Amino acid sequence: MLAIRNIKELIQMPPGPIGGRAMRHIRRIPDAAILVDGDRIAWFGPEAACQPPAGTEVLDAEGGCVIPGLIDCHTHTVFASTREHEFVQRLEGKSYAEIAESGGGIRVSVDAVREATVDELVASARPRLARMLANGVTTVEIKSGYGLSPADELKMLRAIKQLADGPMEVVGTFLGAHTTPREFADNPDGYLDTILHEEVLSTIRDERLADFCDVFCERTAFDVPQCRRVLATCRDYGMTPKLHADQITQMGASRLAGEVGAVSADHLETIDDGGIAAMKEAGCIAVLLPACSFFLGVQQAPARKILDADLPVAVATDYNPGSSMVESLPLTMSVACTQMRMTPIEVLVAVTANAAAALNRNDRLGSIEKGMQADLVILDVPNADRMMYEPGRNCVRAVLKCGRLVHERA
Ligand code: NIG
Ligand code: FE
Repeated sequence: MLAIRNIKELIQMPPGPIGGRAMRHIRRIPDAAILVDGDRIAWFGPEAACQPPAGTEVLDAEGGCVIPGLIDCHTHTVFASTREHEFVQRLEGKSYAEIAESGGGIRVSVDAVREATVDELVASARPRLARMLANGVTTVEIKSGYGLSPADELKMLRAIKQLADGPMEVVGTFLGAHTTPREFADNPDGYLDTILHEEVLSTIRDERLADFCDVFCERTAFDVPQCRRVLATCRDYGMTPKLHADQITQMGASRLAGEVGAVSADHLETIDDGGIAAMKEAGCIAVLLPACSFFLGVQQAPARKILDADLPVAVATDYNPGSSMVESLPLTMSVACTQMRMTPIEVLVAVTANAAAALNRNDRLGSIEKGMQADLVILDVPNADRMMYEPGRNCVRAVLKCGRLVHERA
């Protein structure tokens, strides 16, 4: 048994999904303690009521706040080259879509990933995951989508799976439909035939390479009928649909999310009332990516409107070399506050309980409840609001994964 004592504020996060309107009503327990038995939370409550059995090991929170382990539920953390030249091009006036249409963007990342081996992809991603863990992230979703051929997509997914051998829980997503590769520029449907081939999809299923499938529904990538086909086909091989929806062009992608039973629709910068209604009807989680709009310098998703419609909202980094070179979920959380007008407690729900639900892991992750997995973060600040009030400073003192101390600040 392990006891975490001397907690100034404990966030009593219920399991997700939590609807937008309930997200701001989360209980905070002052002067609290937690008991951990093996990999599970055994008890929590006021410090004065804590009665650990004899021989219990004690971890002193030193008056810090304790929150659930953070979950980054939308990332492209495996990549092989950076694209700072596009960052500069945008600052000089080109848009993300213009760069993509003139042969840059995702296809540049594809060239680099095709050159890399599985081992090289794994080696370059490891330090990124280590820094994420030091920022309080205990679970990360990682997408393929920079291979764009059967062999290179499988290579990426195998690299992602290999990254799960450390303390970080890694969830794989097959994003073969990220964009059309150069060699199929005039034949997107022909490209989709190759990645939706029975051999590719049964390999993903048999090697357990991906829990989710994803598509980029966008003018520079795939249209709604193409995305429908990808998601419906992958669903038959056991992958749960997700979408990059309504980011730059309003094409009805969030409506498709409801239709294909997607667990989440992500981005939503240009979502309209019909899209919000369709997602609500389908019980689909809205994953917002404030660091992406921050990085591109464009309009944020209408978070307040989505919250008011009572949709469960999650927040993630979208970490990728093109549109969001932001690996810090805590910084992203501060951006959600200041640029989307979400309150700190809403944002905390969005990166724990609701992010767990966006990864179908809300039965075990993202909440502080008896029986839940003991993925916990001890902060050096006395309350959760302070974490987001200090953008860019790492407030994480210690991280527990499955009840084990996996990171402690030097
Ligand atoms: O989520 N939008 C599509 N995919 C990424 C960008 C990928 C890239 O530019 O490399 C995103 O923003
Ligand atoms: Fe993305």
